[in-house]
Amino acid sequence: MSKLFSELTVGGVTFKNRAWVSPMCQYSAVNGLIQDWHAVHYGAFITGGAGLVMVEASAVHPDGRITPADSGIWTDQQAQVLAEIPRFAHRQGTKAGIQIAHAGRKASAKAPWEGGAQVSVGEGGWQSVAPSAVAFEGFTEPTALSLSDIALLRADFVAAAERAISADFDVVEIHSAHGYLLHEFLSPISNKRTDEYGGSFENRIRLLCQIASEVRMVVPATRALFVRISASDWIEGGWGIDDSVALSRELKARGVDLVDCSSGGTSLAQKIELGPGYQVQFARQIQQEAGILTNAVGLITTAEQAEAILEDGTVAAVMIGRSMLGNPRWPIQAAADLGDEIPWPNQYARGFTARS
Ligand SMILES: Cc1cc2nc3c(=O)[nH]c(=O)nc-3n(C[C@H](O)[C@H](O)[C@H](O)COP(=O)(O)O)c2cc1C
Repeated sequence: MSKLFSELTVGGVTFKNRAWVSPMCQYSAVNGLIQDWHAVHYGAFITGGAGLVMVEASAVHPDGRITPADSGIWTDQQAQVLAEIPRFAHRQGTKAGIQIAHAGRKASAKAPWEGGAQVSVGEGGWQSVAPSAVAFEGFTEPTALSLSDIALLRADFVAAAERAISADFDVVEIHSAHGYLLHEFLSPISNKRTDEYGGSFENRIRLLCQIASEVRMVVPATRALFVRISASDWIEGGWGIDDSVALSRELKARGVDLVDCSSGGTSLAQKIELGPGYQVQFARQIQQEAGILTNAVGLITTAEQAEAILEDGTVAAVMIGRSMLGNPRWPIQAAADLGDEIPWPNQYARGFTARS
């Protein structure tokens, strides 16, 4: 049996394999409610053999949406509709996760296929918020969060996690990557605060650590808590891998089960060294030095590549994004490529079982 298709237990959750679907925004929700599109989209991955399907960034507050059409988890009704995904996943032996998110200073934008520019308040957008009144390139200046706003934000993340658990998600992932709100607090490029949430490393990681501890209290030991980070800003003087290792140790101490290692998103000045598996080094270093499980993500496209990443055990799992969009049954194909066999859904099995 390959490593890719061997079981993995993280926290209280055992995944049937380590080929996981990365969270991917669909910008197709209405008032934060997922639609038919999402049922088909996630259904395809669930019937495709993935061990974990991570639902896209879902906003903990309406102001935390990247676009007006983002998925949300700030109401109970949204959670009730989202519950269809774990219900369907569990029937296929797949685990379901959800990324809980706030877009910070990159909120109130148009969908990528509409150009991605910011939507003004007059056009139905909203005033964005951030650690400091420092704009992301091309976006308007956000309002700096006050201490009482931060207290409310912490409560929003906890309430979202509670809803995710009530919707029967196996995994809650806190989104602290890609230049969105929690990453904005981590990075000295976007965090210019002078209170206890800014300045020193300890102050910049304070909010994420508080949210991780508080969310852990509502995510039972039978589930798993992940945090997605940008392991590097890829900018001189920005957040870097050593910061990520130190942060990951703190997250582990607060009960986080796994760090999902992505990178970038703080500034257009980033100089990303793109190439196959370009973020794998971060996942390896964090798992080895911080002693917490990690997953790699980013330009992992083939079964052989995924297997090579997992082989020596220094990364626990891989998340795959665009290759899953291209072929939602990537895991079934990958298993065949590695000489393993994973079952087709019963409904399809007749088409793929040798008949005498
Ligand atoms: C359409 C699309 C939407 C995405 N939305 C999210 C998201 O909601 N949350 C997130 O953390 N990353 C998001 N990403 C990044 C992916 O999760 C993934 O990290 C990235 O695409 C790199 O992996 P890949 O090379 O396998 O695609 C998105 C990527 C794509 C292509």
